[in-house]
Order: sequence, then C-alpha cells, then structure tokens
Amino acid sequence: MNVTVRGRSRAHRTVTFDSGQNEVLLIEQRLLPHEFKIVATRNFRETAAAIQNMIVRGAGAIGATAAYGLAQGARAFRGSNLPKFSAQLDLVQHTLASARPTAVDPVNALIKIRTAMDTGETVAEQQSIALAAAEEFANEDASHCAGIGRHGANLIRDNMRILTHCNAGWLAFVDIGSATAPLYAAQAAGRKFHVYCDETRPRSQGATLTAWELAQQKIPHQIIADNAAGHLMQRGEIDLVIVGSDRVLGRTGEVANKIGTYTKAVLAKRHKIPFYVAIPLSTLDWNLKRGLDIPIEDRHESEVLGAWGVTKSGKREFVRVANPTSGVRNPGFDVTPAELITGIITPAGIFKPTELWKKRKQLGHGG
Ligand code: MRU
Repeated sequence: MNVTVRGRSRAHRTVTFDSGQNEVLLIEQRLLPHEFKIVATRNFRETAAAIQNMIVRGAGAIGATAAYGLAQGARAFRGSNLPKFSAQLDLVQHTLASARPTAVDPVNALIKIRTAMDTGETVAEQQSIALAAAEEFANEDASHCAGIGRHGANLIRDNMRILTHCNAGWLAFVDIGSATAPLYAAQAAGRKFHVYCDETRPRSQGATLTAWELAQQKIPHQIIADNAAGHLMQRGEIDLVIVGSDRVLGRTGEVANKIGTYTKAVLAKRHKIPFYVAIPLSTLDWNLKRGLDIPIEDRHESEVLGAWGVTKSGKREFVRVANPTSGVRNPGFDVTPAELITGIITPAGIFKPTELWKKRKQLGHGG
C-alpha cells in the first residue's frame, strides 16, 4: 500500500527480504502511528523475537515473517551435510512457530516451506528453494487479500457504517489486509461509507494501526471505545461488521481473533447485524476439532495496567493507568462460534462457517 510520510508517498509491503544481507525487513509497528520506521532482523532468532515482541503483528504478516525467517535460518547454514542441515532447520522452525501461539498462519507457512524444500537434493538447492517458497507465500498472501477484496466489496453499499475490531489491515498482512480489503475495493469502486474502528484495548491496534491505515487511505472513519459498539448498534448506527482472524477451524467454522471479537459477534446477533470474518487461506486450520483446543496467548499484565504513547515532545513513554498492586488476567484472543458468524470472506468466495469443511478442496485443503 502507499504510505505517505512527511508528504512523500511510497509503496510498501509490511514484510520483505534482503537476500544480499540475509535480513528480514519489517515495519516497526510498535512505533505507529507516531513514527514510520523499517527495521532489519539479522538472524532467525531476531526474526522470532520480532514476532514475539510485536514489532510485526497480525496473522498473515507473522506468517510471511516466519516464512522468511526459515529461509534466513536455512541460508545461514554453512556446509553440505544434509542431516546436520535438517537438524538446524528443525530448530529454526520450532523457534519461529512458537514465537506466538494463536495464529495458525506461521505454522502453515513453515510447513509449506519445509515441504517445498524436500524436493531439493543438496543443501544449496534447499536453501534456494526456501527463499523462493517464502517469496511465494508472501506473494500469495497479497493476492489472497486482493481476492478477499473482490468478493467482500459486494457487501458494502453506499452510506453504510461498518465496524471493525483490532487490526486486520495491510499491516497485519503483506499487503492490502483481510478485513480492510473489501473497504479498499469498495472505495476504488466509488462507494461512500464510514468505518468505526474499535480501539481494541489493551494494545489498541484499532486506535493506532487500523485508524492510521484508514487515514493513509483517506477512508472516513472514527475510533470508538471498545464499550461503545453496543450502544451504536442499539441506535441503528452500525450496518455491518467485518473482522479478521488468527485461526479459523475448517471443521467447525469457529473463529479465533483478538480479544473482544466474541463480544461484538454476540452484540451483532442481538441486533441482527451481519457479522463477517475475512481470511486468506493460510488462516484455515484443518486439524483442530474444537475451538476450545485453540491455544490462546496469555499476555503480559503491563498491557492492562498501562499504555504506551508519545509525550508532547515526541518521546515514546509507558504510563501506568491502573492500580499497580492489582492482579491482571490478559487473554489475547477469544473464539467466536460459527452460529454468530454470517459468512467467511475468502479469496475463493464467501462461505457460511459451517460450509468450510464441505468446500475444503476449493479452499486449498487436500488437493
Ligand atoms: O496484534 P496481535 O498480533 O496480537 O493481533 C492479531 C491481530 O492482528 C488480530 O487478531 C486481527 O484482528 C486478525 S489477524 C489479521
């Protein structure tokens, strides 16, 4: 997407790879919306740390980062001993896959790259396949998001008010975004609409990342406190909800997404407002049989006790808000059951959540 910083506009992808330096290049998302900066990770451990510390975040973006991290780890290996190379790859894969547990995209990306690498007969061959496969994953993520846009744009009519939660914009993917793709496609088709961005405490991805993206894209929007959505729905001021997801169960249609998504889905059902989830195919988990088995990341208490921001002089600071001696429970994600979801917007079309298993071939599972 085009990013305009200090009046200069340039196209950016969220995640790219510098093959000469063997470095992964990432937008430092923790600094947004106050500063736009690209950072480089020099080895697979730094790449895993960037995922864990949320320099890069969002299902597709961490999927592509893990893919490039695996290629980076593979390319750093010296020698031609295949069993030693394979042991090193296992370590790299494990380190990247365990950086964040809830999103399935990194796991799917890593499996895809390892499977592609198996066709190489030497270390050198496998190293070059790893990078090609990582590039392919990143390109596919962007083209899947474009496909989501084509299908999802049909849901948006003139003057609609659309609610979204957390950030499922282009920063959360390689480009375009999942929940934002229909918005960008509808805007390109000349439709006029308004977006409400849930603030999304505790990390405020809606207020910082989605709002920044929509402002960059000149889409009319307002940030609302997480608690405001029910009130707006009750007054008929929200017509449609579109969110992203970190993992959708192909067998049941259950959707894991940023904490608070389930609450919004319950409210939407109560007010008969269509509730859609937009995903690329890498977000589908065909193995798990029930939502209760989705690993939910427990995050640090400091996220709830305070917040990061910038002072008037532009200095980035953490301020304490809550009573410091109180305990905190901070689950990062929740699971929305299929019955609350109107449809899953995919690059292959829009499906009812309970239809996914029946449509699995179309959705890229099992040939
Ligand atoms: O900021 P994160 O990585 O903790 O949150 C993940 C997400 O971006 C969201 O859950 C998002 O809505 C779906 S993933 C594109």
